[in-house]
Amino acid sequence: MRVAVFGAGYVGLVTGACFAELGHEVVVRDILEEKIDKLRRGEVPIYEPGLDELLERNRARLTFTLDVGEAVRDAEFLYICVGTPPTYSGDADLSAVWTVIDELPRDFDGKRPIVVMKSTVPVGTGAAVRAALDARGLEGVRYVGNPEFTAEGTAVHDFMHPDRTVIGSFRSEDGDAVERLHEGIDGPILRMDVASAEMVKLASNAFLVTRISFINEIANVCEVTGADVVQVAEAVGLDHRLGPHFLRAGIGYGGSCFPKDSLALKQLAANSGYHFQLLSAVIEVNELQKRRVINKLQKHLGPLRGKRVALLGLAFKPNTDDMREAPSIVLAGRLTAEGAEVRGWDPVADGRVHLGGVHIADSALEALEGVDAAILVTEWPELRELDWAEAGTRMRNRLIVDGRNMLDPGELRALGFEYEGIGRATE
Ligand code: UGA
Repeated sequence: MRVAVFGAGYVGLVTGACFAELGHEVVVRDILEEKIDKLRRGEVPIYEPGLDELLERNRARLTFTLDVGEAVRDAEFLYICVGTPPTYSGDADLSAVWTVIDELPRDFDGKRPIVVMKSTVPVGTGAAVRAALDARGLEGVRYVGNPEFTAEGTAVHDFMHPDRTVIGSFRSEDGDAVERLHEGIDGPILRMDVASAEMVKLASNAFLVTRISFINEIANVCEVTGADVVQVAEAVGLDHRLGPHFLRAGIGYGGSCFPKDSLALKQLAANSGYHFQLLSAVIEVNELQKRRVINKLQKHLGPLRGKRVALLGLAFKPNTDDMREAPSIVLAGRLTAEGAEVRGWDPVADGRVHLGGVHIADSALEALEGVDAAILVTEWPELRELDWAEAGTRMRNRLIVDGRNMLDPGELRALGFEYEGIGRATE
């Protein structure tokens, strides 16, 4: 089948590459010339494990274009994979979605392609797009919602082996066509109405962030009562009704999805006259969680003015170069505001763009040179493997705040470090 993909970001490239892998002909369209040029040259503009191999292997079935006409020509599916970042008010900004809809040709030569919404959108967007298409005389163009559930770093695997594929349609034959497009992908397919499909996406992310903020609050209570959240989470997660996932306490969630989608659902509820109290608290807990690290440093170092601090790991999570809403950005800002000198290192992400005023080092050891404290911000495996004995010799003061509970407190203390985790006994 022939698929046009609008948007060559994480979601669009993974969607396009995976559909090509399934044997479909894919045209990916973006408005950024530089990005399209790179893709045509075989360069991948983002870091996503497995994506470059997949794009390379399916080159014959993948084309990249700036031209809408070329993208939609003979396409049976028009996949919308553009960004929906938050507006100033916290609502989802749908301007890129509307631009794609507005740019669609007025005439499809009697063909009836399906607009498929992969971008995360508020409930009601499908109905609004349907109405806009009808108003433009495009009644023949069909509409289906097909939200994405891939996580960065494992996106290719998640796409090919999903827990579920959700297909929301106004008419079942349109959903049938999108279901056929997914032949070859494992996992259950759930069919539903468009509004419910839109809500599944928002509810899933809201539930995941609720689990994270929940375990972070349990961690905070562990700290004042002497329990250890790592042991608590392991035991809680073994209850088959609860499960082990997303119970890792830390310095809060970040990324391009959780912060924006949780806020967008909160605002969607509010715009519809409902105050989503639980989600509001989840968001607030996350904001405070990032800042608590500063108090941990102050507890040991007193005022931070003139102190040198290293941020180890800058991306919002390992296996990605994505810095969007990364906790490192908040930490760097708070530390700078306290008068500290900040150094940073990440194996992949380029902190220079997002962390003005931070000295970006070429290695973790270089970042640790002469510091009064190190904060483990992102749980890159490289940091578990780091020679911490050597690291200690580079530091002016051996204090480590392990923001992801990744390191062994006993081992570090034996090396002469003061160790602070999240929700672990301080000794
Ligand atoms: C997330 C969801 O996991 C995907 O299912 C969803 O499709 C995607 O958003 C999206 O909406 O597009 P992603 O943002 O790539 O995927 O990353 P996650 O692995 O979910 O991590 C998000 C954040 O939560 C990270 O900052 C991570 O460090 C944090 N986290 C995760 C925790 O603090 N504790 C945990 O136990 C798990």
